[in-house]
Amino acid sequence: MTDPTLDAAQPYMGALAAELQKNGAVRSPQWAEAFARVPRHVFVPEWYEQETNERGITVWRRHHAATADDQLAKVYRDTTLVTTLDPETAEQVDDTAWTGIPTSSSTLPSLMAGMLEELTVQDGHRVLEVGTGTGYNAALLCARLGDRAVYSVDVDPALVQAAQQRLGEIGYAPQLAAADGQTGHPDGGPFDRIIATCSVPAIPPAWIEQTKPGSVIHTDIALGIEGGLVRLALDEDTRARGRFTNTTGRFMAARNEARVYPRRQSPTAAPEAGTRPTPVTGRDIQANYPFRLLLAFHLAETRFVYHLDDAGTTSFQLQHSDGSWARAPLAGDDIGLMTYGGNGDLWRQVEDAWQWWNDAGRPAQDQFGYVREPDGHASVWHIPDGRRWELTPAASAQHKPE
Ligand SMILES: C[S@@+](CC[C@H](N)C(=O)[O-])C[C@H]1O[C@@H](n2cnc3c(N)ncnc32)[C@H](O)[C@@H]1O
Repeated sequence: MTDPTLDAAQPYMGALAAELQKNGAVRSPQWAEAFARVPRHVFVPEWYEQETNERGITVWRRHHAATADDQLAKVYRDTTLVTTLDPETAEQVDDTAWTGIPTSSSTLPSLMAGMLEELTVQDGHRVLEVGTGTGYNAALLCARLGDRAVYSVDVDPALVQAAQQRLGEIGYAPQLAAADGQTGHPDGGPFDRIIATCSVPAIPPAWIEQTKPGSVIHTDIALGIEGGLVRLALDEDTRARGRFTNTTGRFMAARNEARVYPRRQSPTAAPEAGTRPTPVTGRDIQANYPFRLLLAFHLAETRFVYHLDDAGTTSFQLQHSDGSWARAPLAGDDIGLMTYGGNGDLWRQVEDAWQWWNDAGRPAQDQFGYVREPDGHASVWHIPDGRRWELTPAASAQHKPE
């Protein structure tokens, strides 16, 4: 190991591992040891921090630590560190700040730990990670399972090259590849475990082809307005079945090419059609993640945005691909009202789902199952009573990013 700050980092690494144990993300001695042994700072020499500049524009400012201790103190926090911005959208606004969409990051350590625990790896397992990014997660997998067991793929060749070098610096050599991980790993499977740190709208067929009965796939499924982490086990018929996990977190969407971030096409918005009272406020939707996930089961072809009106009121707004929209304020005098354009049914579905969710005792996300059938069709269900929602073919069968 050549990094001169490595000795100085040991107490920080130990403290991060202890924090992750204390907050329940790390539950086993094996993962506690891996977090205490793998230096995060090697993988994140610099990063971007979000700030709002004097013109009210949100920018990403490149962070340069004043001292080695300052860097270590910041890297070993339980926080996500954005490391790469999409060059297509990033515009430089001053010497060290850019606008733009993040395309890679070192994931929140407690989220990584929660997913790694839920992956339930055992000695001898072969694991594919989709989304190498900085290489930190791949290093943790190497520390736990050994280099030969770990395969990792990222769509961005520059990230793979940097990760390979950093992994090498601390003595790890997993099988890395620059490719679209939705097509699996170029070396093929079968893998005992697949863990994805980017989101997919549906389980890609290649992941089924590169696993085997008993294998586990752990990924973020993106379903329009919301999504979540699912842990699925493969059966003898190549059916992948499981549930949304207790660990919550969302990842950036998988993209097909390194330098092209998926853009959302906004339909022409229908003219405003009316305002009426509603029992569901924008705040209800914003504050209740499991309810947003449930709404995503109901609302295919729908996105959400925060809408700011001229009076400065922020609303939660749903936008359907046919141009219909509906919104409700997050706060203020009009909090009990919704306004819509186009098909008035959109918000009625929100109200019906809200009623069902409350009647069902406000189930958390881990009360919902997810299954991908051998033909690619996917559905979700409420585990206690079996109520089922079919996911649309667009959301369940495709494997291209939105
Ligand atoms: C949150 S970062 C991954 C963090 C990483 N595991 C780490 O420990 O640093 C998400 C990564 O997914 C990658 N990605 C996006 N689309 C992909 C795809 N189709 N195949 C493989 N990787 C992809 C991004 O380039 C990015 O590096």
